Amino acid sequence: MANLPSLHVTTDALSELDVDALLVPVFRGAIEGPGTETALRAVGLSDVPRDTSFRGKVGELLHLAAPGQPWGRVTLVGLGRLDTLSDEQLRRAMGSAIRAVATDARTIATTLAQTNPSGEALRAAAEGALLGAYRYDAHRTDPRPIRLTDITFVVPSAAVAGAREQLARARIHARAQTVAADLVSTPPNLLGPVEVVATARELLPDDIEVDVWDEDRLAEEGCGGLLAVACGSARPPRLLRLLYRPPDPVARVSIVGKGITFDTGGISLKRPSSAMNEMKGDMGGAAVVIALFTALAELQIPVEVHGEVCLAENMPGADAQRPSDVITVRGGTTVEVMNTDAEGRLVLADGLALAAEEAPDAIVDIATLTGAAPRAIGKRATAIFSNDDDLLRQLLAASHSAGEPMWHLPLWDDLRENLDSDVADIENLGRGDEAGATMGGLFLREFIDGLPWAHLDIAGPFWQDTARYHLPCHGTGVGVRTLLRWLDPRDG
Ligand code: BES
Ligand code: MN
Ligand code: ZN
Repeated sequence: MANLPSLHVTTDALSELDVDALLVPVFRGAIEGPGTETALRAVGLSDVPRDTSFRGKVGELLHLAAPGQPWGRVTLVGLGRLDTLSDEQLRRAMGSAIRAVATDARTIATTLAQTNPSGEALRAAAEGALLGAYRYDAHRTDPRPIRLTDITFVVPSAAVAGAREQLARARIHARAQTVAADLVSTPPNLLGPVEVVATARELLPDDIEVDVWDEDRLAEEGCGGLLAVACGSARPPRLLRLLYRPPDPVARVSIVGKGITFDTGGISLKRPSSAMNEMKGDMGGAAVVIALFTALAELQIPVEVHGEVCLAENMPGADAQRPSDVITVRGGTTVEVMNTDAEGRLVLADGLALAAEEAPDAIVDIATLTGAAPRAIGKRATAIFSNDDDLLRQLLAASHSAGEPMWHLPLWDDLRENLDSDVADIENLGRGDEAGATMGGLFLREFIDGLPWAHLDIAGPFWQDTARYHLPCHGTGVGVRTLLRWLDPRDG
């Protein structure tokens, strides 16, 4: 697991700060104006570099030597335009800045918070900074390791108490996000269903109740979706059931995660030329659920949270399920498996049915479910589906403040008939070759027993091929901070 830097606040004068690098925020366009001169003079540098192309765009950096100062150097950090300044701009700017200096500097300080000392802005800046210092490097003999250990925010004295609290929360959220990112990025030979369970046991604090259903128990309990998907793999499936029970909970929710540790498509094999390496992260939803449970107690979330983590590997082995097989999932619904690559909805059927049996106030599932979702709305956003306007509104608000964009897509009732099967209660593919992400949502809706429910399709943002702002290369852990904010009444 990654070691995130520690966060500090100080009211010390800049000239007292003994750090390797000082980060100074600059708004867009200000490099030629008085803003930069003021910023530079404040840090003891008088020369405005006239020959630079630095314009202060979000994440843009300019490194300057700082002779005669306690800090080895000054890095100007572009913040983008002042008139559109948002928390996400700060998160991104800090992510880029820290990513750029984290291999050289052990300690940095920043005046960033002074640009906007309100609590949420500082929190976003700190989230960006911590995530910028993260990278998945468990298997690399790294000539340039991350050396950064300490990040200090210089704040006005009136802001210190609030700042400490914001930094503490930022650290818990960012840390949980890196837990999810690590799980997604871990190579699939090292992380099958059994290994995910073992890793979760190591990560989870003692106050989380853990129950693991193996293949025998899954058979006894009628979880035919997990069993069918796992048939083609030498690795058995697991259902990891988590429970966080605070004293006097104000609500009860259930969160269900798709945990396909590798998705070849099964007999409906994915095209070998497609970027199948990404499918090591087809347990991105499961990773988010596990990561959430590492943070709930520390944040003192007053909500009872159930987690259903549906783990299987989708391989085309000799016992693999065939297109046209009929299986029975938890609760007795029969499913005609028309395409073995639509496997996520099969394992989620078991998980959602089990979640609904507890009759929680709300069910949220999170899954790398369909390639159609990023085709429709792009790779940066999560597609959200819901049968409940209030829940939808809450999740959209949380996603906005977390800087994890979501876009609402429809559950057209008219398209439900495309899931009608000739031989079973329902089929998993859907005729008509349209609205693929919606068809996934309509399939899942069959198993939630009419309870308030939202489905988050993270097939776009769970992954990226190169680091961007605060988000790392490969697994991003997107979804963790949104769901933590949703669960925390202090963030409401
Ligand atoms: N895990 C994939 C979806 C996916 C694709 C996630 C790309 C992330 C990036 C899922 O199991 C899948 O294969 N879905 C099929 C569904 C289809 C067969 C109905 C798809 O999207 O093509
Ligand atoms: Mn698939
Ligand atoms: Zn899949």
